[in-house]
Amino acid sequence: MFIVSIPALQRNTRILRDVKEAAGCHLVLALKGFSCWKSFPYIREDLDGCCASGLWEARLAHEEFGKHVITYSTAYRAGEIAELLEFCHHLDFNSLNQWMSAREQIMAHPRYISGEVQCGLRINPQHSTGETALYDPCVAGSRLGITADQLIDADLTGLSGLHFHTLCEQNSDDLESTMAAVDEKFGHLLRLPQFRYLNMGGGHWITKPFYDRERLIRVVKEAQERWGVEVWLEPGEAVAIHTGVLRATVLDVFASAGHQLVILDVSATAHMPDVMEMPYRPDVFLVNGATQEQQPAVVMAGETYELADIAGEKSFTYRIGGPTCLAGDVTGDFSFSRPLVVGDTLVFDDMAHYTMVKTTMFNGVPHPAIALQQENGELQVLREFTYEDFRNRLS
Ligand SMILES: Cc1ncc(COP(=O)(O)O)c(C=O)c1O
Repeated sequence: MFIVSIPALQRNTRILRDVKEAAGCHLVLALKGFSCWKSFPYIREDLDGCCASGLWEARLAHEEFGKHVITYSTAYRAGEIAELLEFCHHLDFNSLNQWMSAREQIMAHPRYISGEVQCGLRINPQHSTGETALYDPCVAGSRLGITADQLIDADLTGLSGLHFHTLCEQNSDDLESTMAAVDEKFGHLLRLPQFRYLNMGGGHWITKPFYDRERLIRVVKEAQERWGVEVWLEPGEAVAIHTGVLRATVLDVFASAGHQLVILDVSATAHMPDVMEMPYRPDVFLVNGATQEQQPAVVMAGETYELADIAGEKSFTYRIGGPTCLAGDVTGDFSFSRPLVVGDTLVFDDMAHYTMVKTTMFNGVPHPAIALQQENGELQVLREFTYEDFRNRLS
């Protein structure tokens, strides 16, 4: 079971609220990182709205969160723009192609004419600050964002914002160096009166204790003063970090080829894909093991928790795996101070952000339909997935 703690969420959103108020900017929740919408009433007051990766997340933002809806999609599908124009406030585009093909339709829409919806371009400042290529939108050949050379002599009619997202779990020194790159490559555009907003994306680890919030506030204020733009921040992880756990039950324990193996009722590949994609080693707690001071993000009355160590550090080491057929469905080797037995509960810490959304429909990307092909070549569509399928899997 995934469990999300409301007080832990609110601890984060109150920090985020203080930061945005001090900086005088706007801050929204990135649904791609956390979209358990039944929790929205508890955090809505602290945040300015949501950012969405496409139509389904945008609908969820509009219907379940309210307030400001920002949509940026790597590519909009045919017909989506018409629906998004009915309720979005910012529509950001990943390529000039995409913008130019939608521009006429957008500029004729009453909400665009009245200023309720504004449009922007995602830019790529080509300034890498992260260490993992998988999370770096500035790698050579990146498909995310428009580079400065593509904008030379481009027709920018109808645009009023720029948007960049280049950070991932980073501190504000990396934001500051990114801002220098944005200034160098795109400052001449931001100085134009037509540009009214700058979206600094997500990846800001604002709610971590070591995060330098004063620097963030200064960098945001400088951007607002230098270019006269509104600044928007759209963190996902910083909203939901240290707020949730995934609880698992031990189904089997046995020895094979010198290893002690544990099979759980949850899987790395099916339920914690970042453990394998990133890859990373989550903190794992044994319920009612040896008592320790450290605790997972969600604690239950009457339980004690023992944080597992690396292999060999404590007396009993196990390779912990899931119930799927994938040979590599393994979360890692962990050691405990007592033997594990069938029925034990293990708690994977910090599983609210990204893990929950990746287990459902990541980014709200519609699930492909499923069809059978008959002998005569005809397709029989068995199942098409709808917005309601997406929404209902999240809460
Ligand atoms: C465009 C955009 N905005 C915001 C975010 C949220 O980032 P984070 O959860 O790291 O704060 C992402 C994450 O990939 C993103 O791609």
